[in-house]
Amino acid sequence: MENSEEFNILSLQETPEEKAYDFVPKTFDEYLGQKELKQKLQVYTTAAKERDEPLDHFLLFGPPGLGKTTLSQIMANVMGVHIKICSGPMMERTGDLVAILSSLEPKDILFIDEIHRMPTAVEEVLYSAMEHFRVDIIIGQGAGAKSVNLPINPFTLIGATTKSGRISAPLRSRFGITERLDFYEEKDLAQIILQTSKFLKCDISKESAMLIAKSSRGTPRIAKKLMRRVRDFAQVTNKNKATQAIVAQALRFLGIDEEGLTKVDNLLLRKIIENFNGGPVGLETLASLIGEDKDTLESVYEPFLIRKGFLQKTPRGRQIPPRMIPLLKQKFLGQNTFLS
Ligand SMILES: Nc1ncnc2c1ncn2[C@@H]1O[C@H](COP(=O)(O)OP(=O)(O)OP(=O)(O)O)[C@@H](O)[C@H]1O
Ligand SMILES: [Mg+2]
Repeated sequence: MENSEEFNILSLQETPEEKAYDFVPKTFDEYLGQKELKQKLQVYTTAAKERDEPLDHFLLFGPPGLGKTTLSQIMANVMGVHIKICSGPMMERTGDLVAILSSLEPKDILFIDEIHRMPTAVEEVLYSAMEHFRVDIIIGQGAGAKSVNLPINPFTLIGATTKSGRISAPLRSRFGITERLDFYEEKDLAQIILQTSKFLKCDISKESAMLIAKSSRGTPRIAKKLMRRVRDFAQVTNKNKATQAIVAQALRFLGIDEEGLTKVDNLLLRKIIENFNGGPVGLETLASLIGEDKDTLESVYEPFLIRKGFLQKTPRGRQIPPRMIPLLKQKFLGQNTFLS
């Protein structure tokens, strides 16, 4: 694949590297940024702990890599309970969910990632588990089979999803707390980069951290990934000192430009300018032009371009906002805007 290196950097899956060798925030203090959300959750968890009750069921929306899993683990730490982590598509049969539910100790947290991808039958088991802390199971087979209603320990369900529109209404209504994680501000990302670099024992200034933050698409996972690559450069060329020049070199090497745009971002904008004179153009056409699937285009590339003002969604498709067109024509076509 032509853009495999880049896809690696933007890839929003958790990498093994991320788990084993990187800093993991364990307290609310170590979880940087997201001040308001953190304050609320701190109150909810402390209050529930004081009452010696499980926390209310909690639904958490947010794009990949913003820290949903990390935040849930911190909540479990603060409450002093276990957390079981699983994902919606992993639970194929109702028995899978019942087995997990009956293994929970009182007040434990069950974290279900991508909860919108749970099969309907499994989701229905969850309803009575969440509401009454009971599950129905079928014992035996054929004519002798009977349904038994079993109690389970009171627990907290944390449901995480990247797609808020896909949660069914009955499921959504059973959550007591619903919150959204937003993209991070650059200054918060810079703090996260400094936190990671300290752990990685790589010397980096605030200015250099800011430079990486600008290219991180508001996403801690990308910030930390870029930091690890910068560290490689610093280690090999400059005794673990990540100067601004080294950061700039590393970013260039990874195909990221001064505006934080990757090769695919630039290709996408260039195609809209070259082939459609700025748009509008349909999502599917665009996806095939850059050789990515629709979902990746929508969840990985577009949010950043839209936030940066390079792209707009309209009823007729994607387009480049008129005020950006001269700038991009200059960039891609080298055209003087007065003549075009
Ligand atoms: N607020 C934060 N402060 C410091 N590090 C963070 C913060 N949020 C996330 N991270 C780091 O970013 C990485 C991604 O976080 P996490 O895995 O929790 O994201 P996620 O939202 O669960 O992603 P996914 O949707 O892919 O499951 C982790 O390495 C985590 O330690
Ligand atoms: Mg996660």
